[in-house]
Amino acid sequence: GKGDFEHHMLKEIHEQPETLANTMRGRLSDADASAHFGGLNVDPQQLRRAKRIILTACGTSYHAAQVGEYLIEEFAQVPVEVEYASEFRYRNPPIDHDTIVIAISQSGETADTLAAVRESKRKGHMTLAICNVVGSSIARESDGGMYLHAGPEIGVASTKAFTSQVLTLAMFALHLGRLRNMSALQGARMIAEMRALPDHVREALGCDADARRIAEKYAHCTSFLYLGRQYLYPVALEGALKLKEISYAHAEGYPAAEMKHGPIALVDANTPSVFLALKGAIHEKAMSNLEEVKARRGPVIAVATAGDDVVARKADEVLYVPDVPDYLQPLVAVIPLQLLAYHVARLRGCDVDKPRNLAKSVTVE
Ligand code: M6R
Repeated sequence: GKGDFEHHMLKEIHEQPETLANTMRGRLSDADASAHFGGLNVDPQQLRRAKRIILTACGTSYHAAQVGEYLIEEFAQVPVEVEYASEFRYRNPPIDHDTIVIAISQSGETADTLAAVRESKRKGHMTLAICNVVGSSIARESDGGMYLHAGPEIGVASTKAFTSQVLTLAMFALHLGRLRNMSALQGARMIAEMRALPDHVREALGCDADARRIAEKYAHCTSFLYLGRQYLYPVALEGALKLKEISYAHAEGYPAAEMKHGPIALVDANTPSVFLALKGAIHEKAMSNLEEVKARRGPVIAVATAGDDVVARKADEVLYVPDVPDYLQPLVAVIPLQLLAYHVARLRGCDVDKPRNLAKSVTVE
């Protein structure tokens, strides 16, 4: 049931500190400063030899895959490609035999993702799955994989599955990194950072009242931009998808620096830009992108690191999240975007848990 919450989606958003703890439970090992997965079913030698990883998925799971690309490349130094399952299954890309294909699907029943798994197996690739639903078709047909343990997700808009997918990919990057190049010291540091995550997500959920206030101010707008860089670029895409699928407002996500190559022409006083402006490697650059939008009189809603009052002075609205390492930022930064989408949809009178034209699992091709 929904408990005290008005909608499944809101309940699932607020569950994330617990679902993330469940995703990690029993998987982080201090003894070897690594992560382990019971059902992975791959010989470590095969993981050491892997020359390439292909992540394939649809929708929100595709955005998690995009974060996974950065994670695996940064921590395990294996080249990663991300493919829409619906495109991958019909292409005939040259893939050598040291490639591992990983399908990501909350439901484990998405038709295109299942077809991508079948096609990959037919060609003889080691094919793994990251699923939430235990015993689902994609989980059964893969050679092995990792479950999210996030519990049933009922809202059509995926929320807690996204954060558990990203965390699973971070743990997989740690596992792979430790088999290949990563020091025990760095592995131990990542474990400590991941363990602290549920508390950080709980803190991020504290922006609910602000997200609601901001939603009241902008719910009438018909078009929104979502902008982020690096680890936060896929989060911008995910924020835009959340808003459009449940509130029916037009929203587009972009890497922030692409703005000046076209999309900035959309900016006017009625087109809010949601900026992922957390502290980190390219904070300065993201801030100058933010100023370009302000200079065109576009309202700016910033998601920023707690305590960053420079952003507060430049943006019209700020949603604060706690300070975490760059690679974990997607997991805290997506929280205010989920809440913003929820409140905008609610204020617009939309059926949040069952948006028009959408089904929870897409079993048509
Ligand atoms: O069950 P899956 O993860 O395979 O589903 C993929 C997409 O259909 C799904 O993420 C969809 O985009 C959601 N409605 C997004 O909130």
